[in-house]
Amino acid sequence: MAISTHPSRLLSLLLFITLSFSPSFAEIRFSEIRSDSRPIIPFDQFGFTHRGRLELNVSQISLSNPSTDLDFSKVGFFLCTRDTWLRVLQQIDEREITCAVQSELINTVYTFNKLNGAKRFDIVFSMTNADQYTLVFANCLQQQKISMDVHSAMYNLEGKSGRDYLSAGKTVLPKVYFLFSLLYFSMAGLWIHVLYKKRLTVFGIHFFMLAVVILKALNLLCEAEDKSYIKRTGSAHGWDVLFYIFSFLKGISLFTLIVLIGTGWSFLKPYLQDKEKKVLMIVIPLQVVANIAQVVIDENGPYGQDWITWKQVFLLVDVVCCCAVLFPIVWSIKNLREAARTDGKAAVNLMKLTLFRQYYIVVICYIYFTRVVVTVLETNTSYKYLWTSVVAGELATLAFYAFTGYKFKPEAHNPYFVIDDEEEEAAAEAIKLEDEFEL
Ligand SMILES: *[C@@H]1O[C@H](CO)[C@@H](O)[C@H](O)[C@H]1NC(C)=O
Repeated sequence: MAISTHPSRLLSLLLFITLSFSPSFAEIRFSEIRSDSRPIIPFDQFGFTHRGRLELNVSQISLSNPSTDLDFSKVGFFLCTRDTWLRVLQQIDEREITCAVQSELINTVYTFNKLNGAKRFDIVFSMTNADQYTLVFANCLQQQKISMDVHSAMYNLEGKSGRDYLSAGKTVLPKVYFLFSLLYFSMAGLWIHVLYKKRLTVFGIHFFMLAVVILKALNLLCEAEDKSYIKRTGSAHGWDVLFYIFSFLKGISLFTLIVLIGTGWSFLKPYLQDKEKKVLMIVIPLQVVANIAQVVIDENGPYGQDWITWKQVFLLVDVVCCCAVLFPIVWSIKNLREAARTDGKAAVNLMKLTLFRQYYIVVICYIYFTRVVVTVLETNTSYKYLWTSVVAGELATLAFYAFTGYKFKPEAHNPYFVIDDEEEEAAAEAIKLEDEFEL
């Protein structure tokens, strides 16, 4: 009963999900709405300080049924926080109101009864209650289809006349990204130094690692410039394109690197097996899809009908990639265990085995932290400290890069091959013990 009387229930839920998970988009945005009868359309989310502004210019408004008998105060834009949205839903449930725009809890920006036949309106709305708000369009008239061009900009005033187009908790992000990019450039410098010093034992994979670190550094540098440009002007102006290109290259190269290291390529053997090549052939195209989804998500904001679909595509593809990269490591571990049992070099193999097991655990921790923990942090941190979840994610990534570099660095005295008999015996014993343990 309750469900059939509230057909917008599902949409409200979707809006809630959007409110909870979407990053704060903050650019000046243009959205075209065409013959849309959705009762709720969420637009951008933004963290206002006590000097927040919303500029809303809507033009080309056309209604499928412009009859003057209808109550157009039930159609309009409003700003609301996640908590007030929950309370509004409750009000609708308890039949206090029939339409979200009627609630006195929300900040009404504009209702369409003020249009009086006009095709456009421009409005500047000041927000003095600091919080994170979402701009929402509600259309509570049944079967009313609406078309309009929406130009919106949200920003916080700074100083006398300055504007900060980055959401309250994200305004320090350009600095954060810049700092991390410096760290990665130093890391690349250090790695070049190591490669030069140990040039006799350098494998192909070590140059690949260098490329991955440099791509990550460039990616962060572009992200810093992109964000600081948005902060100043409200639009990305081409920096986003560079950023997407480097994100794309970084994503592909990082996953390829994890797979290559996992297979032991150039460490344990100079070639890839067929099944290992297959993993790469799955991961690389999936990364292409993930990057396209990321671009669509970032550029469109949550107002588009397909936004949630793209978000799901991205999550799904990401999960598949993360699982796929674990297989080669598991295969290597299995091979090493078998080798440890059959050939005489138990100690050598045990060391490799330990290394690969550590790597397996670290990859899982890295994936878990950057995918799950960061998302949880993002949803639970106050909007004012949203940058902390970015820092946490970047620190985890940095630690992962450092671990990989340290553990798989070129060795002048390769410990794999200089082991005395005593160690050899101890290792063989250890492997035997382990087998018993597993049995
Ligand atoms: C809205 O219109 C005003 C006046 O035409 C203009 O100055 C402003 O930049 C517009 N804002 C957006 C977000 O398009």
